[in-house]
Amino acid sequence: MTSIISARGLSKHFSGPGKTTVVAVDDLTMDIEPGTLTAFLGPNGAGKSTSLRMLTTLLEPTGGTARVCGYDVAEQPAQVRASIGYIGQKNGAGQYYRVRDELLSQGALYGLGRVERRRRVDELIDVLDLGEVAKRPTMKLSGGQRRRVDIALGLIPTPRLLFLDEPSTGLDPQSRAHLWEHILALRERYEMTLVLTTHYLDEADQFAERVMVVDHGRIIADDTAPRLKAELAGDRLTLTVTGDATGAVQVLRRAAEDSGTADAAVVTTPVPEGTRLVAAVNHGDRVLPGLLAALREGGSDVVAVELDRPTLDDVFLTLTGRSLREDRHDVPAPGEEVVDGAAAGPPASPTTSPTTSQTSGARS
Ligand SMILES: Nc1ncnc2c1ncn2[C@@H]1O[C@H](COP(=O)(O)OP(=O)(O)O)[C@@H](O)[C@H]1O
Ligand SMILES: [Mg+2]
Repeated sequence: MTSIISARGLSKHFSGPGKTTVVAVDDLTMDIEPGTLTAFLGPNGAGKSTSLRMLTTLLEPTGGTARVCGYDVAEQPAQVRASIGYIGQKNGAGQYYRVRDELLSQGALYGLGRVERRRRVDELIDVLDLGEVAKRPTMKLSGGQRRRVDIALGLIPTPRLLFLDEPSTGLDPQSRAHLWEHILALRERYEMTLVLTTHYLDEADQFAERVMVVDHGRIIADDTAPRLKAELAGDRLTLTVTGDATGAVQVLRRAAEDSGTADAAVVTTPVPEGTRLVAAVNHGDRVLPGLLAALREGGSDVVAVELDRPTLDDVFLTLTGRSLREDRHDVPAPGEEVVDGAAAGPPASPTTSPTTSQTSGARS
């Protein structure tokens, strides 16, 4: 199947403070198949918006090439724009116009005839559940409603390919879930290809078929969420032991090493019952029986055991040494101490982070 997006070595440099250069996007190379939903996942400043803006012809690349819907972004920007929809990170809808009028103006802008324009606007009002607010000015709407108006605006020209930059940022969890229902319904109805950015791990995990993890302008992993989790992050094993935890830490670290995990660090936290030990292990379900026996033999008193499957945050942590979750920072939480390994050390050096082409099979 021919790709709907094909980028080769796309890069964007900005001049930063002083005489510095900010490499916002570095060597973006990818192919996206028609009909797929791809999420760019990464922290603020990773280069997600810049990538989207180059693919939508809003920003001229510093280097590299890209074809979108069969057209070259640099040579044929008008054709690219005619084939795509783009909903930027900030709200596009005017503040004072009523929702329906705003949508009708957009239809006129795209040259739709009066009858076609009305048909299209009414259909989008229906699909995006905007009937109740169609006569209200956009500034009177909630964040989630306004975001749906933005999406309707982007869909007026019936694009084959829709770019959404952080569609759900700033919305409360309920509005986010509601917005996602609409995005998925639209996709079904119009058989669109969707490329979106998010810094919400759960969204990328739940809804995207393909997750591109972006950090410092580079794609550091590119696969389905289940494969990323299976290949790049182990299970998380949490043990609570009473009394002296030194022996238990050693036993757990050895079990983690034996399981082939990339980072056999054990993080300990004092808890009322004693000490909580956390480590990443591969195939925790198989490690656990032997581990418990070894702990008992070593005289450790285990009072609680938990085994968690990895999340995309664990994937990001493995790749970068940092957590993507907003409530966590680059350092262990208060009371946490890293006994061994590099869990809270500086970010992995660029030479050790897997890149796109090395992702699969990075760990077997
Ligand atoms: N117009 C600009 N001028 C200078 N630097 C920019 C500009 N746009 C983005 N950047 C920088 O490029 C990097 C990537 O930004 P961006 O693509 O907006 O990231 P993201 O969308 O992932 O948060 C950041 O360091 C940002 O400060
Ligand atoms: Mg952005």
